[in-house]
This record gives sequence, C-alpha cells and structure tokens, in this order.
Amino acid sequence: MNRSIIRLTAALLVGLFTCESLLAQQDSTAAPPTTRSAMAGVFNSEQVARGRAGHRAQCASCHGAEAYSGEAFEKAWKGQTVFDLMELIRTTMPNDNPGNLPLNEYVDIVAYILNLNGYPQGEAELPADPEALKLVLIDSIPPRS
Ligand code: HEC
Repeated sequence: MNRSIIRLTAALLVGLFTCESLLAQQDSTAAPPTTRSAMAGVFNSEQVARGRAGHRAQCASCHGAEAYSGEAFEKAWKGQTVFDLMELIRTTMPNDNPGNLPLNEYVDIVAYILNLNGYPQGEAELPADPEALKLVLIDSIPPRS
C-alpha cells in the first residue's frame, strides 16, 4: 500500500468514528419533552381516594371545594399546567401553614381536585415530580354537569 492510501484510510476511519460518536451523542440527549392533556387520564382512582382523604383532613376545615371547582376552576386554571395548580396550593395552603405537607400529598389533592372537575381517570398516578407536572396541560375543561 502506498502512503496516500494509508493516509486516506486513516482519515476515513477517523471520520467514521467521529460520525458514530456524534450520532451516539444525539441518541443520548433526551427527546424534547412531550406534553399531554389533563384530559388524557393522568391520575387514577387510588390517588383520588388518597387526595379526598387528604383534602378532608388538611383543607376542608377552612373551605369546601367551591374555591377550585366549576367556573372558579375554569377561570383560574384554563391554559395553565397541573404544576401551576399544585404550586399555588403548595406555596399558599394550608393558609395557616403553607408548604407543610409532603409533595406527594399535595399532588394527591390535586388529583382529587381534577377528578372533582370532571377530568377522566386513567391507569397511572400523577407523579410527584414538578418537571413532569409542568408537561400536563389544563388545556381544556370537561363539560360541567
Ligand atoms: C387555615 C385555613 C385554610 C386551610 C387549612 C386551607 N385553606 Fe385554602 N384558602 C383559605 C382561604 C382563607 C382562602 C381564600 C383567600 C386566599 O386565596 O388566600 C383559600 C383559598 C384557596 C384556594 C384558591 C386560591 C386562589 O388564589 O384562587 C385554593 C386552590 C385553596 N385554598 C386550596 C387549599 C387546599 C388544597 C388546602 C389543603 C391542602 C387548603 N386550601 C387549606 C384558607 C385555608
């Protein structure tokens, strides 16, 4: 083999490896996060049951659910995310001790509130993960009965 062929082969090999590692890098960077609608069945019945009990214990001494059902819910939350709803509650409620509950209890109560507003149940629970909750959109409001 003459020198230029060796050089060319070496260059091709380096090129190949570079391409491969670039491709591998692309694979490992996460796909852009995908959003889903709160209408898609984003919580389940067990979570609603826990949320209902939590609401009774932590919230109902001061107010019923009128503050966040029906028209009040639609006015306040349409176009926002489930994270926004959870975060407002977490940072302001209970009114006399905001942020006092574990995150998962706030999330359960939010599942209860969504259920109250007619959102359908699904298989999985709403995750107690702020980043994941930011991807759940309150993009449409179930018809009120
Ligand atoms: C110690 C009394 C008290 C407790 C306990 C309490 N709240 Fe409230 N909550 C209030 C008062 C008073 C308001 C209305 C004034 C306000 O918005 O701060 C309110 C308003 C709200 C609102 C409407 C806020 C808005 O800006 O639209 C939501 C949602 C809410 N509460 C959720 C909850 C949840 C969920 C819990 C249980 C984790 C809870 N609250 C516990 C007193 C309480």
